[in-house]
Amino acid sequence: TLKAMSPKTDQMKAIRDEVLALKESPLYEYRTSNKYFPVIGEGSHDARIMFVGEAPGRNEAKTGRPFCGAAGKILDELLETVSIPRTEVYITNIVKDRPPENRDPLPSEIEIYGPFLDRQIEIIQPKVIATLGRYSMVYIMKKFDLEFELEPISAAHGKKYTAKASYGDIQIVPLYHPAAAIYNRSLIETLKIDFKVLKDII
Ligand code: URA
Repeated sequence: TLKAMSPKTDQMKAIRDEVLALKESPLYEYRTSNKYFPVIGEGSHDARIMFVGEAPGRNEAKTGRPFCGAAGKILDELLETVSIPRTEVYITNIVKDRPPENRDPLPSEIEIYGPFLDRQIEIIQPKVIATLGRYSMVYIMKKFDLEFELEPISAAHGKKYTAKASYGDIQIVPLYHPAAAIYNRSLIETLKIDFKVLKDII
């Protein structure tokens, strides 16, 4: 017998289908010619905390899973230090397809994929959004009318910003991108301290 999917799973699947067919994306041709997958997101659809990264890297595009490469290993380590199971959070990115050579996402890419992230936030209704890196910090803070509070990530990381989502209050916590800690191990310590902030508010 066919199992009925939950409405949240149905809505996520609709997003996946739309992204799969998104020929208008500047990254569509690169994805299909490399036999890559879009990376929609992974984790609990009832998560209290949602992590928003930048864009899939090579490992992610090959598997369709977010943060499964080197940066993902660091994210896993950080979650472990505060005893938050990865299965209880939701992990996604702004841009759902891999940009060539892991370059920074272009404004046009953020514009085309951003609405999918917006829908994912409405589906999951997280209490906390932890942004990973500068691009997701800027996108999420602008989205929640915190543009006037924007600071460089060196000043904003680990701070809590309260905002109003359509479904209630939400806290936004900007974090350094875990990939930054691959080449700068001292950032790991900063990230660990900032993850304690997360742990304290969930
Ligand atoms: N970096 C990101 O921003 N997202 C991923 O999914 C992997 C690496």
